[in-house]
Amino acid sequence: MQTRIKKVACVGGGLIGSSWATLFSKNGYLVQFYDIDKNAIETAKQKIGDMFKQYHDAGIMTEAEIKEAFSRISFFTSLGETVKDVDFIQENVPEKLELKRSILAEIDRCNSTAIYASSASALRISDITRDCKYPERCLNGHPFNPPHLMPVVEIVSNPHTKKEILEEAKAFYAGMKKVPVILNQEIYGFIGNRLQYAVVREAMNLVAKGICSVEDVDKVAVYGLGIRWAFLGPWLIGELNGGPGGIYDYFDHYRPAWKMAFEDLADFKDLQEVFVEELAQPGVAEEMEHRTEEEGRTNEDLKSYRDHMLIEILKMHDKI
Ligand SMILES: NC(=O)c1ccc[n+]([C@@H]2O[C@H](COP(=O)([O-])OP(=O)(O)OC[C@H]3O[C@@H](n4cnc5c(N)ncnc54)[C@H](O)[C@@H]3O)[C@@H](O)[C@H]2O)c1
Repeated sequence: MQTRIKKVACVGGGLIGSSWATLFSKNGYLVQFYDIDKNAIETAKQKIGDMFKQYHDAGIMTEAEIKEAFSRISFFTSLGETVKDVDFIQENVPEKLELKRSILAEIDRCNSTAIYASSASALRISDITRDCKYPERCLNGHPFNPPHLMPVVEIVSNPHTKKEILEEAKAFYAGMKKVPVILNQEIYGFIGNRLQYAVVREAMNLVAKGICSVEDVDKVAVYGLGIRWAFLGPWLIGELNGGPGGIYDYFDHYRPAWKMAFEDLADFKDLQEVFVEELAQPGVAEEMEHRTEEEGRTNEDLKSYRDHMLIEILKMHDKI
């Protein structure tokens, strides 16, 4: 689907806003970038430069392409000026309801037609847009961090969002090799965070009960489930695990075991208050010590390692 989108605003230029700006400009869009804090704008310029360098080091962009992409980004100190002539607005201010509402009210005064997509990860789009003038053009476009690399974008509507707007936003993200998913209803945590919460809750339970170490949870995640899930999700893994009868047999064979297993999984109320100090922190410190220098032993190195590995997987998926 062709979209009318040519010029995009990034409102709020921290971690997520600068990553979106990098992605949008790489994909040929003119980007108008705004943050209330002038220092944040200077930091963002540096971060955007670093993200382009990642693309360059991965052989995805040449220096000339980076120069051109950078020149497509203009930095603004007025919200009204930023949004007045754009076609799409990605809002990335901190996760505070009143702040997001006031930003949207200001946007409404300056531009009534651009698609408004909030990066909000916990707030409901129906709450953010409750008092706005043009809810039909508003949606949640929730990225995984960092959006210039991670493909999934979770799209959620408020009760007034027009179907054509959802489809246009979906096409816009998909045109940049993202994988947009439209949720049928608002739900706290969307899809990704809910799956993650379920896994984290059980990771806490296993360590709290002394079944295994923090490091062993991470080993099973990275070298077991994670490697599979990098290519096939739990449903298609189920289709394979079911044998010739596929997903039907998977359910048929495993349902009795699931009943037992699901009943044995932790309830949050059972997890200890002292978990962080006594178990998580020492466990993570020990795991860090066991890592090689190449795998990264500091948070900064871990981030570089994560992004490097991510790029290799994204290349296999043709999603970068
Ligand atoms: N960090 C993540 O992993 C992640 C992932 C997905 C979605 N999100 C969502 O993205 C949004 C932004 O998160 P972040 O991690 O980039 O936060 P951040 O703190 O890194 O950046 C927020 C930026 O907004 C700016 N800001 C504050 N008030 C403003 C205003 N009135 N006008 C313009 N700019 C203003 C701040 O100066 C800051 O630079 C949040 O809604 C968050 O929930 C975050």
